[in-house]
Amino acid sequence: MGSLTIRKLDEAMKARLRLRAARNGRSVEEEARTILRDAAADAESPPAADPTPTEAPSAAAAAAKPARVLLVIGGGIAAYKSLDLIRRLRERGIAVRCVLTRAGSEFITPLSVGAIAGERPYTDLFNPDHEFDVGHIRLARDTDLVIVAPATADLMAKMANGHADDLATAVLLATDKPILLAPAMNPRMWANKATQRNVTRLQNDGVTLVGPGEGEMAERGERGRGRMAEPLEIAVRVTALLAPQDKPLAGYRMLITSGPTHEPIDPVRYIANRSSGKQGHAIAAAAAAAGAEVTLVSGPVTIPDPNGITVVHVESAREMLAAVEKAMPADIAIFAAAVADWRVARDSEQKIKKQTGAATPELSLTENPDILATISKLPPARRPPLVIGFAAETEHVERHAREKLARKGCDWIVANDVSPATGIMGGDSNTVHLISATGIEHWPPQSKDAVAQMLIEHIARTMLEKMKAKS
Ligand SMILES: Cc1cc2nc3c(=O)[nH]c(=O)nc-3n(C[C@H](O)[C@H](O)[C@H](O)COP(=O)(O)O)c2cc1C
Repeated sequence: MGSLTIRKLDEAMKARLRLRAARNGRSVEEEARTILRDAAADAESPPAADPTPTEAPSAAAAAAKPARVLLVIGGGIAAYKSLDLIRRLRERGIAVRCVLTRAGSEFITPLSVGAIAGERPYTDLFNPDHEFDVGHIRLARDTDLVIVAPATADLMAKMANGHADDLATAVLLATDKPILLAPAMNPRMWANKATQRNVTRLQNDGVTLVGPGEGEMAERGERGRGRMAEPLEIAVRVTALLAPQDKPLAGYRMLITSGPTHEPIDPVRYIANRSSGKQGHAIAAAAAAAGAEVTLVSGPVTIPDPNGITVVHVESAREMLAAVEKAMPADIAIFAAAVADWRVARDSEQKIKKQTGAATPELSLTENPDILATISKLPPARRPPLVIGFAAETEHVERHAREKLARKGCDWIVANDVSPATGIMGGDSNTVHLISATGIEHWPPQSKDAVAQMLIEHIARTMLEKMKAKS
């Protein structure tokens, strides 16, 4: 295996190779040889004891091949968002080829699509320049994933019924690759029985959907379900679909807390909060899916434990801290639990009884341990290299979150507005801001699963950067 071949790989691939090599205690070249040997064994060819130099370049080149997607842009108002989607995908190193439907090009021009994608979009099924070698079949196959954004009611109806009367539908019918649809339409079009029938049929056919979400529509005064998922959410979903086998956090130990705490008043009463644990549990599931070894320390919740994860169930803040300390060491710690700041100074061993004529009992509170600050301020040898806290705020979200970042000594804060009007506490969606020493990222409103996926992706990228900086 020539080091020359490794040098030809792009930087991201080299860093991943180094990461794997470091984890497996091998040199980079040995690791590359191992990958080649495994690939050869998988292909059921005779085991290659020592791959010859001629085998190396092709396998290494295949490993370095960037992901490719085909983006079909339908004829809806949300077509303008597909330009941002192209940008988001390219930022992630994904090559984007576009098909613009005739109606799609009424909303955005092939020129702007081509300028952002870096390649002229395809528009015409009967184009002699492309079709001399049946180009639509090539387009359909020469990709890792087909995305339709916006997926209009019309495009979905055609797909559900197997039409192929233009380039987009012909490609969608001919492809053997996974398809991701981002529907976008007026709420009445979305709710229409015909659309719902088509959606069900497409899902049964194995097509994946992202969105649509709820909100204001382009038409004045209209709101409801039908908004296309935000480009960032679609990009995150694409990344997950493209790399189901990829385990960017394999080898990392992650510690995650989730849910509320219950602070006893007496044996039957407690102080609690409205946290459902949905966000923390979603993060734990996404981390495990990314290959991490996860310990989830959960307060009392009614949702099930995620699969494939060690779950430690606790009640109070003090029990949570003890479980966290026991689960250490960890490479990454995420404190998503809504830990009670205070507990009753002296909880009663017996149920407090109501007594006629007696004064109303007063609860005296005392401060609970600060789990995030305790772990963040551990000496470097014991502190997880990446510590992330959550800040649930009801006002001045950014300001309070920045102050919390400085006060607790953690690396990132994921902040959200949990005022009752947002429906975030207990709900299925979340709008978060990621705050670190270098700045703030505002993430779009999205499902808690999508927030989890995005956070895990962000962590994986950061760990890779840290690894690159070390090597
Ligand atoms: C101004 C305008 C906005 C439209 N917006 C949408 C939309 O958001 N979603 C949708 O499904 N159809 C929308 N339509 C209707 C589609 O453009 C129409 O059904 C078209 O045939 C879809 O083409 P396609 O199959 O290439 O996407 C809109 C039409 C107009 C004139």
